This record gives sequence, structure tokens and C-alpha cells, in this order.
Amino acid sequence: MPPMRLEFWLPLILTLAAGALSAAAQDTPLTLKDAFKDDFRIGAAINQSQFEGGSPREAQIIQSQFNAISPENVLKWESVHPAPGQFNFQDADQYVAFGQKNHMFIVGHNLIWHNQTPAWVFEDADGNPISREALIARMRNHILTVVGRYKGKIGGWDVVNEALNEDGTLRNSPWRRIIGDDYLVLAYQFAHEADPSAQLYYNDYSLENLPKRQGAIALIKKLQSRGVRIDGIGLQEHDKMDWPSTNQVDETISAFARLGIKVMVTELDIDLLPAATRSNSADISMSVAANAELNPYASGLPDSLQQKLAQRYADLFSVFLAHRGQISRVTFWGVTDADSWLNNWPVPGRTSYPLLFDRDCNPKPAFAAVIHMASPMNSATRN
Ligand code: GLA
Repeated sequence: MPPMRLEFWLPLILTLAAGALSAAAQDTPLTLKDAFKDDFRIGAAINQSQFEGGSPREAQIIQSQFNAISPENVLKWESVHPAPGQFNFQDADQYVAFGQKNHMFIVGHNLIWHNQTPAWVFEDADGNPISREALIARMRNHILTVVGRYKGKIGGWDVVNEALNEDGTLRNSPWRRIIGDDYLVLAYQFAHEADPSAQLYYNDYSLENLPKRQGAIALIKKLQSRGVRIDGIGLQEHDKMDWPSTNQVDETISAFARLGIKVMVTELDIDLLPAATRSNSADISMSVAANAELNPYASGLPDSLQQKLAQRYADLFSVFLAHRGQISRVTFWGVTDADSWLNNWPVPGRTSYPLLFDRDCNPKPAFAAVIHMASPMNSATRN
């Protein structure tokens, strides 16, 4: 046998390596849901126009890229139960039908919240606060009617949304003022009664900040100690470029996973516009007057910022992927930059760039960065 000389084998090695690389490139999935199929579901919050046929290009993105949906507004109390005894299921039915038709995991958002809940819920016919018993009865009736209608179709419900203050204490919402702290336990019991197989979640923002996170941990433990079904925590993740840090996200996911529940990222977006307040809360009641300085990219986003946004998304997804066994879903709050709530919050009429698709429905550099994180070449870094 002649000696095995590198010069002899080199052409073959190079050919094989080129083949492997091009196969890897071909294997790189082009859709978010394929890219993360072995990791977690990828969702989007969708609006009426998207699921009722008014925005076909956006609907096409939703159908091809996502395997979970959340309703931006149609299942909130004010939409589905606008007046005493009057339920309006027209839009919610279409939302659920869209998810079924496309074989998606359908999220219910949300049952009990202090916002987008009409004042009548807490009042009698003369506008006076109702009794604890009367409000419990209204709550039960609402939950049984809404959850019951979509039993077996909606896979998981945000039962209570945003029950905590920033310091981790319970928010003094009308629910708590009238019923007391156990309104939470009751809400989860009613939801479980209405659909025993639905997953039940608690959903909130700023849980990456320690005081609020500790409040949420105490709340989940309390629900668990009362024997109430609670399957998961929703971290909303209405993020900024510099908050929360990847360490905070990492620690937050670990802390909730230690409670034995699933962690979900439920409302992901990244606000790169100038901060209008010092707060990193996502309280929808905040409002700041518009001015040109707060809206610097009305005619387009500089490429340097596109790249920074892409890097920020990549950094966050590297944390999510490191926790792939603990995270069951990552949902974006919107589909394209045009339909994000951040165009109008906390400052009305801004041009914001928080998502993966631009105003013309084209994928942004941030989309490629997120897909790249899932590529087989990055898989070695995962748990
Ligand atoms: C909160 C709610 C969502 C939505 C967003 C902003 O995070 O949970 O339903 O209203 O605010 O649009």
C-alpha cells in the first residue's frame, strides 16, 4: 500500500466538506415554526383583520411561520361580554376557526384583568359597587360561558392577567377590592371547572425585575398549595434594547421552572424607540404626549439599528434555546411592525420597529438572526 498522503485525499475531503455545507444550508429552515420545531411553539398575537380575511398577506405570514396564535383583543371581556347578559362570540368564533383550520395551538387571552373590562362588571344598576358574592357569580358565569364555548378547542388560557404591582404585592384592582385576595384561586377553579383539559396560565410583564418576580413566585406557590390547577407562567417580554438583561431573562426562566410549571414567552416585542418614560412596565394605561424627538425614525430605520435589533433578538433567543426544555412557546405580540401596539403606546402616532416583519410584510434582518439561532450549527450550544 502506498502511504496515505494528504495531497491525495485533499480534493476528496474538500468536495465532501462543500457537499456537507451546502446540505446544511439547504437544511436551514425558512420558517420560524420549522426552525424551532424541536424546541418550542412559535406564536403570534393576531387581529381581526388578519383572521377574517382583510389582510391576506399578513394571514399568509401567520399560516406559514407560526404554529400558535393568541387573540390580540377579541377574547378580552369588553369584546366578548360587552353588556350584562350579552355575549358577542362572532369574532372569537372566527379566531378559533382560523386556528383550527391551520392546525395551530390556540391560546385564550384573557379571562380576568383590570383593563379592557367594562365598568358594569363591578357595579349594580345604580353604579354602586356590587357585593363579593355578586361579583363571584359574575366571574363564574363569564368564565364558564367563555371557556365552556371553546372547550377542547382552546388549548390554554391566560386566566389572570397582570395581578401584581411592580413591588410584587397584589394590585388593588376592583377584583381584589370587592372579592379579596382569593379572587385568583376562584378564577382558576372556575376555569378548570369549565374545561378540565385546558392548560391554565398566569400572565404578566416585568417579571424579570426581582421584586415582581418574587411576588409572582409567591402567587404561584399559593395557588399550588390550594390545589388549584396552574400549568404555566407567561412572561410577556415587552422588551427594550437594554432591558431586561439576558441574565435577568435566564434567571427568571429558571426561577419559574423550579416551581414545576412551564414557562412561556407570551407577548414578545422589542421597543427601540427613545424611552418616553423611565418605567419598563407595560401598563397600557400609560400615555405620553407625542413630539418629534420621540419619533426619530418616521421615514425609516437606519441599517445600524436594524443590525442592533437583530443582535438583541439573537441574544434573547440564545437564552430561550438554552431553556428549550422549560419553555413551551414563544409568542410575538403582533406580526408586522405596522400592526404593533407600540406605534401608539405609550406615545400615540409613532413609527415603531419591534417585530420580525416590516411594514411591507418582508422579513427583517432580525428574522434572519432568529432563524440563524436555530440552525444546526448553533445546536451544539444547547442543553
Ligand atoms: C398587555 C396585555 C395584552 C395587550 C398588551 C398591549 O400586555 O396582556 O393583551 O393589551 O398589553 O397591547
